[in-house]
Amino acid sequence: MTTFNKVTAAHIAALREIAGTQYVLADEESMARYAQDETEDLHYLPEVVVKPDTTEQVSRIMRLCSQELLPVTPRGGGTGLSGGALAQFGGVLISMERFNRITHIDERNLQVITEPGVITEELQNAVKEKGLFYPPDPSSRGTCFIGGNIAENSGGPKAVKYGVVKDYVLNLEMVLPDGEIIWTGANVLKNATGYNLTQLVVGSEGTLGIVTKIVLRLIPLPKNDLLMLVPFRSAESACEAVSAIFRAGYTPSAMEFMERDAIDWVSQYVQSSAVKIEDDIQAHLLIEVDGNYPEVLMQEMEGIAGVVEGFDIGEILFAEDSQQKDELWKLRRRVAEAVKANSVYKEEDTVVPRAELPLLLKGVKEIGQKYGFHSVCYGHAGDGNLHVNIIRGTLTEEQWNGTLTEGIREIFQLVKKLGGTISGEHGIGLVQKNYMDIIFDQTSMQLMKQIKQIFDPKNILNRGKIFDC
Ligand code: LAC
Ligand code: ZN
Repeated sequence: MTTFNKVTAAHIAALREIAGTQYVLADEESMARYAQDETEDLHYLPEVVVKPDTTEQVSRIMRLCSQELLPVTPRGGGTGLSGGALAQFGGVLISMERFNRITHIDERNLQVITEPGVITEELQNAVKEKGLFYPPDPSSRGTCFIGGNIAENSGGPKAVKYGVVKDYVLNLEMVLPDGEIIWTGANVLKNATGYNLTQLVVGSEGTLGIVTKIVLRLIPLPKNDLLMLVPFRSAESACEAVSAIFRAGYTPSAMEFMERDAIDWVSQYVQSSAVKIEDDIQAHLLIEVDGNYPEVLMQEMEGIAGVVEGFDIGEILFAEDSQQKDELWKLRRRVAEAVKANSVYKEEDTVVPRAELPLLLKGVKEIGQKYGFHSVCYGHAGDGNLHVNIIRGTLTEEQWNGTLTEGIREIFQLVKKLGGTISGEHGIGLVQKNYMDIIFDQTSMQLMKQIKQIFDPKNILNRGKIFDC
């Protein structure tokens, strides 16, 4: 394996020459905020942070780092949950924050060309002004970058009806580790031209190249939506209701699950009294339908209510106006923050075929009892995507970084047995790579490592993410 060099004063001078003096940080204090993301309590200080402004600058930086064998970590908004943007080897951290321009909204073709440092919600709002819709909406959309979403193939609540990031990416401009600049595809809705490099890059966690321009497809903005919150007396039966709703012929635009603790903790965290949780309630489903015709949405809501009434539920809350909808969505979107504020935690991004969700939840709780940990579960139930937040609480260092690893392994083995996988939308990064053997055999792992090798023969770009090689 290549041994990296240390960043020297000469390297820093070269980076300053490329990006401009004020866009290169090398003192500990100003680099501190680049040393962590939202993953657990992990912390890695880079040796230097550089903030390029153009594709050409990124290319020159990569050429320099390739020649000098310096490790490079690309970084978006720093909201990641698997450590993808952490500079594990120190070296050069490339922050894409200045790539914050929306290049062109192509209303004729329903596409947008954007730079990767645009905040996802800002992109969504900009296209919304034109009556267009970019659906993928991770909870962090107010601070995450669209480039980071590409790196992780992010999802979010709308994925259940509209799909995830990969379903919207048409074409990417990318700087390869040696500084070469390529486009991965074409700005078209159909493409049967050679290997699909675009989709290979989506979800590659910044290990194959640095994306500098993104072409996304858009859809017309649905004009209306309705939202309801359904309390269940059993968390497992809430999970059972999920597949029953789809089987009854409905496709909600969001179908979110929150265990009692999730909604309880977030209500306290944001000091909201919007939801009154009765003592015997164990979980909630937040269900949204959207479309253009209010009367059709009303019928769908009534139909879905009819399905959930077949389960042991409390009183359904139908959001009356946009303010109440916003309040309920705020609660859902801020669960991760609330859990983090409560305790150090490990986030497991499990995903199984939707109908297996009740078995997954049951199994997670049983494994928790066996290993003595408490978990707060919530997530995108319509996708079978359950975020299992393992709370550190009073666990000792030995339990937290020792025996718990076995407990997590058991959760992932269960996920595999149920036909699922170990990350639905947060990626593998640093924190899940030791569990990749549960999902992939040696041959598949070898293929992935060879792909990495072709893109990055010197192994300088985001080394140690997804797998060791
Ligand atoms: C969410 C993030 C953590 O679903 O994925 O809130
Ligand atoms: Zn999520």
